[in-house]
Amino acid sequence: MRERGCRLLFLFLFACLALLHGALAETGTDLILGGVISTDGEVQHKIPSSDVPGISGNGTCTSSFYVSLSVYLGEDATEHFRGIFFKGRDNTERTPSIWLVPHTNQVTYRVMGEQGEVWATSRRELKLESWSHLVLTFGKKMGSKNFVMRLYIDGEIDSEIELRSPPVLNDADFLLGKDVGATSKGFVGLLSQLEVGTGGESFYPLLDCEVRQKFASAARNLRKITRRDHSLWTCQREADLADLVKPGHQGVLCPTHDDDAVDEGEECSIEGKGSVFEGNWELLRKSHEAKGNEKIPAILQLAWKNWLGLDQNPKSCHTALFYMQMASSIASTNYQRPGQQFSVEEVLLSERVHQSRQDNAGTDADDSWALKTMAEGGSADAALTLANRHFYGHNGFPKNMTEALSYFKMAHDLGSDVGSIALAKMLLRGDLVDGAAQGGGQRAIELYQGITTRSVDRLHLSESYNGLGFAHFYGKGGLEPNRTEALANFEEAASLGSSQGALNAALILNDEDPGHKARAVEYFKVAAKNSALANHYLGQFKAYGEGGEERNCSSAFEHFWQMAKIGPWANELSTGLKSYLDGDLDGAYAAYKRAAQLGYSIAGYNILFLLDSRRSKRNNGLRRLLGRDEGERFLADDPADTRVVLEDVILGGVEATDVLKGWAHQKLGDCYLFGDTHGCAEAKPTKAVEHYEEAVLRGNVAAYFSLGDVHFFGADGVERNETEAFRLFRQGHERSGRELASLLALGSYSILSVLGFLKRVLVL
Ligand SMILES: *[C@@H]1O[C@H](CO)[C@@H](O)[C@H](O)[C@H]1NC(C)=O
Ligand SMILES: *[C@@H]1O[C@H](CO)[C@@H](O)[C@H](O)[C@H]1NC(C)=O
Ligand SMILES: *[C@@H]1O[C@H](CO)[C@@H](O)[C@H](O)[C@H]1NC(C)=O
Ligand SMILES: *[C@@H]1O[C@H](CO)[C@@H](O)[C@H](O)[C@H]1NC(C)=O
Ligand SMILES: *[C@@H]1O[C@H](CO)[C@@H](O)[C@H](O)[C@H]1NC(C)=O
Repeated sequence: MRERGCRLLFLFLFACLALLHGALAETGTDLILGGVISTDGEVQHKIPSSDVPGISGNGTCTSSFYVSLSVYLGEDATEHFRGIFFKGRDNTERTPSIWLVPHTNQVTYRVMGEQGEVWATSRRELKLESWSHLVLTFGKKMGSKNFVMRLYIDGEIDSEIELRSPPVLNDADFLLGKDVGATSKGFVGLLSQLEVGTGGESFYPLLDCEVRQKFASAARNLRKITRRDHSLWTCQREADLADLVKPGHQGVLCPTHDDDAVDEGEECSIEGKGSVFEGNWELLRKSHEAKGNEKIPAILQLAWKNWLGLDQNPKSCHTALFYMQMASSIASTNYQRPGQQFSVEEVLLSERVHQSRQDNAGTDADDSWALKTMAEGGSADAALTLANRHFYGHNGFPKNMTEALSYFKMAHDLGSDVGSIALAKMLLRGDLVDGAAQGGGQRAIELYQGITTRSVDRLHLSESYNGLGFAHFYGKGGLEPNRTEALANFEEAASLGSSQGALNAALILNDEDPGHKARAVEYFKVAAKNSALANHYLGQFKAYGEGGEERNCSSAFEHFWQMAKIGPWANELSTGLKSYLDGDLDGAYAAYKRAAQLGYSIAGYNILFLLDSRRSKRNNGLRRLLGRDEGERFLADDPADTRVVLEDVILGGVEATDVLKGWAHQKLGDCYLFGDTHGCAEAKPTKAVEHYEEAVLRGNVAAYFSLGDVHFFGADGVERNETEAFRLFRQGHERSGRELASLLALGSYSILSVLGFLKRVLVL
């Protein structure tokens, strides 16, 4: 009896294994979108159908698929349907899709069947302001000809519906957030870890236990990424199962690294605010709650974090692209507004630019006064220089369009064609918000026409044709708006080498029938070297494989960055430069740090330069602090004797004070760390560490930083240990209290993240 029971059990297990194996073997994942995407009701993340082949087809059918994702609902029910995901060109084909239903937080899930749409509504509502894990599956019902569409919420079956026939697929994009309807809204909140896959012919695509696994792993990942306890439900659920919730316990139990284990009592804490990258959570919140330009710094940080896989974010080009594209879109809108053209001050501090620049001087500087006098005395060049400074806000000048216009006019009056062109440009664009541009259009056209009739300079001609194209396009200065005329002028300008002309021609062509897309792309490419906006468009073509371009996520990301980097947020670079030139190293570091977070690699270089200054300052500080000039000279005279002098004479001597011993140990540390350049026959980092440690014990400030460096960078026989490095930097700071090193080391992880970041940015 017992034997038979066992055999039955064995057979049963075998059957289960076979089933499991069959199901696993036939299940395939098409797409995994890692990271967290924030949706504000308006954004729409497009995933081309080619990325989700398992649920794409032109009127064909599938018998098995699944879509799995986590959704964080940030806004309560409204009167609208709120899209979560949608696949279809219009409402006649929405296989598959999920929305939130009006007036409740229940969801409806749908596919298009052969006899029309098949849909069901969840029994449960999604919880407000917490994460829910949704899995929609479609597959064949076992032992039946029918199919089942099923919705799991948080790992449990919520509801299911039976279908006679499989769904009809479409080949439209898979949209996250806002769907195709002009009036529809997307849900407001966050979305994470989207996974789309297919099952085999005969089985259900996911077993119940696989759904639960996805749910558990989503909960784990989200806690890591958002650094906030969104996994409340997970913790409680897991705890319920294991019966671990203690009565009256106020904290939240968190799952540990093992799938099922629950580490009793571990608190889900919000990570400290000190890190260089603010917690993701704060960024995610800002990325959809802030308005317009204010979103950008958060969005850019999210883009880079996902691109580089920093701070526990999964490295995901698609998620990174989502943010970079969003940043690029906002930046491009901003950029096209009058007076919003910012320059990116990609100045390397190490190149000592400050000797030729006066950024800290402003309009009171000597040369500014001289230029003014020269301009008034008839120098068109001086007038142009002043005009440019006012126009772009260069050299410490505040941006001032009124001033710029008056200096361009002065240059024009002095017979400068460049002055005429710039003046015409400002008049046409309406860079002056007030009424000063009245009648400016006509004036601008006359100025341009003057150039086209008298000039032979290619640059001046191309600028003028471009300006005329602009006037034709918008119907300025009494002209009829006429795209044909405009395009002809822009193409003329492009043929003379104007990238602005090429961009404008591209914009018109791109807007016309799709047959002109390829021509538009060619012009965009010509313009891309000088035009951020052209990069924005190329980014779009690359993101979706339009305009005859190959799809390429990383290339799209790079193009979008070219646009996204230009805007008011680029001012951090100017601020950093200005602070540095003013001698405000604190300010420079802070500004460059902010800029580095936004992805400006130049800011990273400049931070390294500041770190380097720290090093030399430290050595100066050492001399001052310990007054060992004599010893230094002694060692410098005969480095070969360094070790002997230090070890035997000073350390071996009975009368040496602790300060002197500390200094000697620190020097010996250098000696062993660097080898023959510092007087030791060979480098022995482990010995260097011993000496630095002795020096630290004796309160030698420099040794804190040297030892910190060794731990930070690692050396032969010394493992990298950033925690230890920053502990030392911090202590060194506390002891010295005034060196740059100290301020750089503040906030423990701060430099580390910037450096780590830089290292990765540099290989882009
Ligand atoms: C999709 O199918 C329709 C009708 O069967 C056909 O007219 C159309 O060309 C197909 N589209 C593609 C992209 O294959
Ligand atoms: C620009 O300059 C003009 C003339 O000097 C001055 O009246 C105006 O206040 C300035 N505008 C700004 C925004 O500084
Ligand atoms: C635009 O200009 C072209 C060429 O000069 C002309 O043929 C066309 O009629 C104009 N169109 C309009 C709408 O004025
Ligand atoms: C995508 O673009 C990147 C950078 O622009 C390039 O290095 C890479 O080779 C491209 N990939 C493909 C598949 O073309
Ligand atoms: C790094 O240093 C810290 C002390 O600052 C220590 O607690 C930790 O164990 C060290 N880590 C490694 C990997 O040695």
